[in-house]
Amino acid sequence: RTILHGELRGEDVIVVSNREPYIHQHSGDKIEVQRPASGLVTALEPIMRACSGIWIAHGGGTADRDTVDRNDRVAVPPGNPAYQLRRIWLSEEQVNGYYYGFANEGLWPLCHIAHVRPTFRSGDWAHYVAVNQKFADAVVKEAKTKDPIVLVQDYHFALLPRMLREALPDATIITFWHIPWPNPESFAICPWREEIVLGLLGSSIVGFHTQIHCNNFVDTVDRFIEARVDREALGVTLGGKKTLVRRYPISIDWPPEKELLAKPVEQCRAEIRQKNHLPANHAIGIGIDRLDYTKGIIERFRAVERLFELNPEWIGRFTFVQIAAPSRSSIFEYKSHETLVIETAAQINQRFGGRGAPPIILKIEHHEPWQVYEYYRAAELCFVSSLHDGMNLVAKEFIAARDDQRGILVLSQFTGAARELPEALIVNPYDADQCAAALQLALVMPLTEQRDRMRLMRGLVSEFNVYRWAGRMLLDAASMRRRLHLVEKSE
Ligand code: G6P
Repeated sequence: RTILHGELRGEDVIVVSNREPYIHQHSGDKIEVQRPASGLVTALEPIMRACSGIWIAHGGGTADRDTVDRNDRVAVPPGNPAYQLRRIWLSEEQVNGYYYGFANEGLWPLCHIAHVRPTFRSGDWAHYVAVNQKFADAVVKEAKTKDPIVLVQDYHFALLPRMLREALPDATIITFWHIPWPNPESFAICPWREEIVLGLLGSSIVGFHTQIHCNNFVDTVDRFIEARVDREALGVTLGGKKTLVRRYPISIDWPPEKELLAKPVEQCRAEIRQKNHLPANHAIGIGIDRLDYTKGIIERFRAVERLFELNPEWIGRFTFVQIAAPSRSSIFEYKSHETLVIETAAQINQRFGGRGAPPIILKIEHHEPWQVYEYYRAAELCFVSSLHDGMNLVAKEFIAARDDQRGILVLSQFTGAARELPEALIVNPYDADQCAAALQLALVMPLTEQRDRMRLMRGLVSEFNVYRWAGRMLLDAASMRRRLHLVEKSE
């Protein structure tokens, strides 16, 4: 954090993402500020606080326009401003085509192998191109120098790096792809595969969470683009310009904001049980996700059901609380998934809920970070069962929340996080029996073993925190810049 603070303050740093870190919403005649459920925002926000600069994002809140100045900017965090948020306004057609359509019905299922078919429409693509250009123009306008450091975030902006490179040839463009990158065969079904890859190759560095995603990207470039691919150095040269492809596993702020850990664990335990009408000594498992079909929420509920089938002694003594933040709900696949989640929970509750406490409590509503942390701190276990996930920061947040060194993480092998956290109980979410066995193990695990595992995981997350993630990318970019200057001088 100190390095970022020292090295980057005053530098021309611009972050671009679709999702904004603070959303202003009308609530009666008041304006409320929401923190969105987004791993991207969770990770980037502390970085921006440390280095200031400008964050450009889509202004999607109902009261967003009421809070900006005449340059469409607002200083955030509210009450304790550290950086500028510049909002971009999009029409309803643009949001439908670029965000819901191409990004979330096309690229999202394309990159997550979760057996939901991607949908590609040329109308959505046209909006995607136009919105990428609109954000690129905004970056150019906001840049104070001819060589700003631009941090482009995620699959909403695959074309932006090349657009930016054309306008600002000396910019350092670091693009981070927060979701998986599939193998070339899977990627091949995208009608605009070449354009997407070429767009990304406008970056100085393209980052992914895992080596597999880096390799898949390089394989995709090799398959579809006439470029020089250096597999050993993991770089691609196109038209004399080099793009590095690197693994940077994302992480979270460490230590977490003080307020998140302010309430003692014992108090969280008591209050959460009381609030949910559960007895004081009741065992609780927790799931925290956006309501998204990639998160394996149905599979998670089936695992809880299997636990009750195999270990009936838990009936009435264990409840799984699922917090599901409403997400992208105007997309058909999300709506029908929501119905299935509700029905599955109801069915399991009917089957095993006779003796008092329900097996599953499902809360489909937005929760602020401090509320989520109370659940993390109150639970015996946290279950992350993603069918495919770039990293999954819920796993790391649960660890950060447990300064009492207790609690068990049950973690899908298909998350980036599983590669860093072998002390979690690693499971295949498609295997209900294996997941149920892990839940049982978690529920009976001696405290000493819980502590040993939690200590190791806390050690890893504290060391490889989000400042290190950003620091490593920026160091690589700086040495690229130095090398480039040396070459220019010698020519
Ligand atoms: C994933 C994506 C982020 C996105 C987040 C929330 O983590 O990688 O880019 O912000 O989901 O989704 P939403 O569509 O609500 O921004």
